[in-house]
Amino acid sequence: MAQNGEVRVGFIGTGGRARWHMERVTKMPEAQPVALVDTSADAIAAAVQKVPSCAELPRYSDYRDMLREVRPDAVIISIPHTLHYEAIVASLGQGAHVLVEKPMVCGVGEAHEVIRLRDEKRLVVSVGYQRHYVGVWRWVHEHVAGGRFGPVHFIEAWQCQNWGGNGWRGVPELSGGGQLNDSGGHLVDILLWSTGIRPNEVAAYQENRGLRVDRNSVISFRFPEEGLGNISIIGESQRKFDEGAQIWCRDARIRIDGMQAAASLVVHKDRAAEEILPEQRPDYPVDEDANFIASILGRDVPQATAESGLEAVRFIDAVQRSAQSGTPVRL
Ligand SMILES: NC(=O)c1ccc[n+]([C@@H]2O[C@H](COP(=O)([O-])OP(=O)(O)OC[C@H]3O[C@@H](n4cnc5c(N)ncnc54)[C@H](O)[C@@H]3O)[C@@H](O)[C@H]2O)c1
Repeated sequence: MAQNGEVRVGFIGTGGRARWHMERVTKMPEAQPVALVDTSADAIAAAVQKVPSCAELPRYSDYRDMLREVRPDAVIISIPHTLHYEAIVASLGQGAHVLVEKPMVCGVGEAHEVIRLRDEKRLVVSVGYQRHYVGVWRWVHEHVAGGRFGPVHFIEAWQCQNWGGNGWRGVPELSGGGQLNDSGGHLVDILLWSTGIRPNEVAAYQENRGLRVDRNSVISFRFPEEGLGNISIIGESQRKFDEGAQIWCRDARIRIDGMQAAASLVVHKDRAAEEILPEQRPDYPVDEDANFIASILGRDVPQATAESGLEAVRFIDAVQRSAQSGTPVRL
């Protein structure tokens, strides 16, 4: 910690997503950005143009040098997907708390190892799943995973985006998969977290549509007790990003339409449909960065945990294996 108690944060990756984190962290009185790392000097230059208060921070091209020399209390990792694991392990190894962008890692074994290391080192690991901070989804988590409407027996969900697999996203060795492992992972994660279901079998088709990675996916899955679900990921769509889901429980049908803070929520019970407007409650964490710093300071606990990271990667891995083999895969 800095002498005044601020959490000293190093940024590993300074591209598009990292700049959101940099902007938020620079505004937090309890946190202090201390270093920028990117293999591209141009990316760092563009990042400090967007966040000028970071212009004087030490710059590194290798996060291992930064971790050794700066010894940050915490890091925020926003680099291509298959590189997450080594960056997490190196950071935890140096005693730094980790907020890692999604997907946490690209393999089930890697996810277990992250959890093991986190527990061994007694550090915070949080994943950049921002839907965990959105009132609508928190309401679903509280009431559906919380069991208010009885067990869940059916789920349908979809997401669409004009997703082209640009740059590293189209290179499987860096992305670990296409649109399902990218934006689609948000939908997978939030369904698992907000309903509490644990799929035990998936059967999927994926189409690359001219890319080296999947662009469109259809996924069917089973979960206990006699539960069924469908997820459609459409990476080849028009400009607007959109998504929705319906969850059938014993006592209600829950319908969520739209993205993040703009999402609407309707609960159908018996013959009535009620729109719920969950307030952004004052006790909710504001976003993943605020929750991360508060968790390090012992004022909160991570809302998107490494366990959520594991559940998402377990599901996505099974989908990829099913689509490749043409057969259902048990989880
Ligand atoms: N939560 C969200 O809604 C959201 C949105 C966009 C991206 N993301 C995630 O953020 C991460 C980064 O995506 P992005 O859109 O910012 O990509 P980006 O291409 O804009 O930035 C990635 C940066 O990582 C750098 N990099 C590559 N290898 C590196 C290494 N070994 N060490 C340090 N830097 C390295 C690149 O030079 C680049 O500047 C991904 O995990 C992505 O899925 C999340």
